[in-house]
Amino acid sequence: MIDYNHEMESAKRAAHLAGDMLRKHFGKELIVDARSAHDIKLKIDKQCQQIICDALATDFPDYCFLGEEGGKGGEIEWIIDPLDGTVNYYYGLPLFCVSIALRVHGVLQLGCVYAPMTGELYTALRGKQAMLNEQPIHVSPRRQMAQAIVFIGHGTHDRSGEAGIRRFAHISSQVCKVRILGSAALSLCYIAAGKLDAYVEQSIHLWDFAAAQVILESAGGRLEFTPHTSDALTGAVLAYNGLLPIHEALEPSS
Ligand code: IPD
Repeated sequence: MIDYNHEMESAKRAAHLAGDMLRKHFGKELIVDARSAHDIKLKIDKQCQQIICDALATDFPDYCFLGEEGGKGGEIEWIIDPLDGTVNYYYGLPLFCVSIALRVHGVLQLGCVYAPMTGELYTALRGKQAMLNEQPIHVSPRRQMAQAIVFIGHGTHDRSGEAGIRRFAHISSQVCKVRILGSAALSLCYIAAGKLDAYVEQSIHLWDFAAAQVILESAGGRLEFTPHTSDALTGAVLAYNGLLPIHEALEPSS
């Protein structure tokens, strides 16, 4: 069986390099490349993607790249979001992360998520134990919605935002708390670590959740992805600890 330990070491190094850059510029004036009603693209996004690609390509020159800041992908591909939680970062909120996954012939094999402001490094190799800072983590044992904390993804455009707010309203009376965190990858890692219990988002990109999916599944959780596009780069995500009756708790149309 092929193991991906070398790839994991390389992904950790690359995540730390990009994370150091993000931390250095946190709270400083940032260059905005593009802006829409619910999204921001920063110059530092591209700079971090370059840092990550350069580091990974040094170790694995034949692997392809797919990510928020470009790349075409291939049979063996790094799937990268150099800055997940861009709006949080821009507004000075410390909830953001670097996200790196490796997908081989369509199967996600490795996930590495690094939150530089809190120093949390979440990692997992498919089929192995998920880790937070090299310590094993597991999803929560909660089975009842009344005890659960559920994350809603607001998304980056009006339609997914509206769906998110409808869900927020629908589910809030059934659960302990509802949260919108602003970083899908970090939200999924928090479920993996048993801090919180479920995540739903109507429209999200593969690079926002690929690394965290491996971590969540290796921690005992589940993630269901329903693609909206034929290339399966965008779709709906429902993730949870594998125990909650989350499907029943959502509106039939959501
Ligand atoms: C976004 C965040 C956000 C989610 C959006 C993503 P970005 O990623 O993960 O929480 O709701 O769908 O696009 O743009 O900050 O990398």
